[in-house]
Amino acid sequence: DWTMAAYRETKVREIREQVGSGKVICGLSGGVDSSVAAILIHEAIGEQLTCVFVDHGLLRLNEREQVERMFRDHYNIPLVVVDAEERFMAGLAGETDPERKRKFIGAEFIAVFEEEANKLGGADFLAQGTLYPDVIESVSFTGGPSVTIKSHHNVGGLPERMNMALVEPLRELFKDEVRELGRELGLPDIFVGRHPFPGPGLAIRIPGEVTKERCDILRKADAIYLDEIRKAGLYDAIWQAFAVLLPVKTVGVMGDYRTYDSVCALRAVTSTDGMTADVYPFDAAFLTGCATRIVNEVQGVNRVVYDYTSKPPGTIEWE
Ligand code: XMP
Repeated sequence: DWTMAAYRETKVREIREQVGSGKVICGLSGGVDSSVAAILIHEAIGEQLTCVFVDHGLLRLNEREQVERMFRDHYNIPLVVVDAEERFMAGLAGETDPERKRKFIGAEFIAVFEEEANKLGGADFLAQGTLYPDVIESVSFTGGPSVTIKSHHNVGGLPERMNMALVEPLRELFKDEVRELGRELGLPDIFVGRHPFPGPGLAIRIPGEVTKERCDILRKADAIYLDEIRKAGLYDAIWQAFAVLLPVKTVGVMGDYRTYDSVCALRAVTSTDGMTADVYPFDAAFLTGCATRIVNEVQGVNRVVYDYTSKPPGTIEWE
């Protein structure tokens, strides 16, 4: 009779055995997997664990503050937050190719993480929130047998050259089990049930050049959309919902004025694993309400469209 409580105890014991008196460093993404891994490891070895959260400036509204509050204040876990927005924006300047954007972000993330690990005096172990599907799917889940559709990046992509043994306490679990373990460890439902968020963050939801200004616009539109989804009680029925800021300007009218601003696309899908996805069928009034609020409240956006493409043939993210 397998229970999550028993799993938790077993893993705590295993982590202690593996780590001994060694130092562990864990990269947090703000997502459920790395958070649950960190909290479990902290339960096992306490202050021998340090978490590192790289703020690349491509996070959602208030995401960094939420992570800081949760880890520092609620769980009292040693946390280093790196403000790397400027260097990510500098590196993304002028870049419009989706794969080059992804590759830059992945490589820069590793560079920042390594620098921080060195500042901490190194560590003996690197903790990762690797799940069972990541273990069996060595090929990116976005790719076909031999084609790379997208270069995948997440905090689990840290290189072997860091020369640290891995601590991966979630390797046997599926996503729903990780959520259950998270609840078992006392994570609030609102955190455990969060929609997946990609490692490259908002950069792959801003086709064309990514700038801080465009990230700020997208953050506002995205927050309004998710606020409406939560208010309508639809958040948990949806696998992933987000806004995309398009590199297209259209003409509009606000009061007596002509506007010439960007188009924002809204996306929402249902899925069980992200491999395939269906469009979430909002009713028209809901979408109209979102469009009105976004255009009224977000400067820089004057038109909103809804993405009706399932996966395949579309992917969930736009890049
Ligand atoms: P696509 O866009 O390929 O996405 O249909 C499938 C799922 O994967 C997420 N995604 C990523 N997650 N690093 C991640 O950690 C990535 O580079 C990445 N790219 C896509 C996407 O949000 C969706 O849930």
